[in-house]
Amino acid sequence: MKLLVATSNPGKMVEVREILAPVGFELLTLQDAALPPPDETGVTFQDNAAAKATECAAQSGLWTLADDSGLCVDALGGAPGVRSARYAPTDEERRAKVLAGLKGVPEFRRGAHFFCAVALSAPGGRHIYRAEGRVDGRIGDEARGSGGFGYDPIFYPNEAAGRSLAELPSAEKNALSHRGRALTRLRPLLERLARDGAL
Ligand code: IMP
Repeated sequence: MKLLVATSNPGKMVEVREILAPVGFELLTLQDAALPPPDETGVTFQDNAAAKATECAAQSGLWTLADDSGLCVDALGGAPGVRSARYAPTDEERRAKVLAGLKGVPEFRRGAHFFCAVALSAPGGRHIYRAEGRVDGRIGDEARGSGGFGYDPIFYPNEAAGRSLAELPSAEKNALSHRGRALTRLRPLLERLARDGAL
């Protein structure tokens, strides 16, 4: 059973592959399906995930899974939020911009969370199934660790005993991450789809 994953972010793709490995899909990338990256014009994670899933399902004729996710920092009014991927030109500059925005902000006001909306669309884009997940933590004073991707080195989950998300082994990140939680909520549907080829 083929499932298209509508992302052009390699870090996300690695995690989706790991999290969904036990379900047994043949996962295809946008490159495999020769599709361009979908637009992100919505103002919510949920709208963007649904738009990406339906647009790519309509173009490919395949069952399609999309993820829209980002980092929301309390002291920055929820930024970078849905603009996480576009907050600055590179991952390093994006992390530096968040750290600069929090310069001098004390630890108790450095709360943040990652949010992930996932959407699963039937071929053609007519029916859609959704789930969400989040992980709470804080922005540290410095970047630490080399795992994961994006903002992971500056985000310290409440449940990780002082380690940044980039310092966790991938299985540990996936067990508590926004993406892991959203996909776990969708998992019963995904298992049915992999087994029956339909929902
Ligand atoms: P989009 O969902 O393609 O708009 O991109 C989400 C952006 O949010 C990514 O490019 C990262 O900058 C950030 N992001 C989402 N999930 C994670 C994560 O698990 N770790 C670190 N950064 C993330």
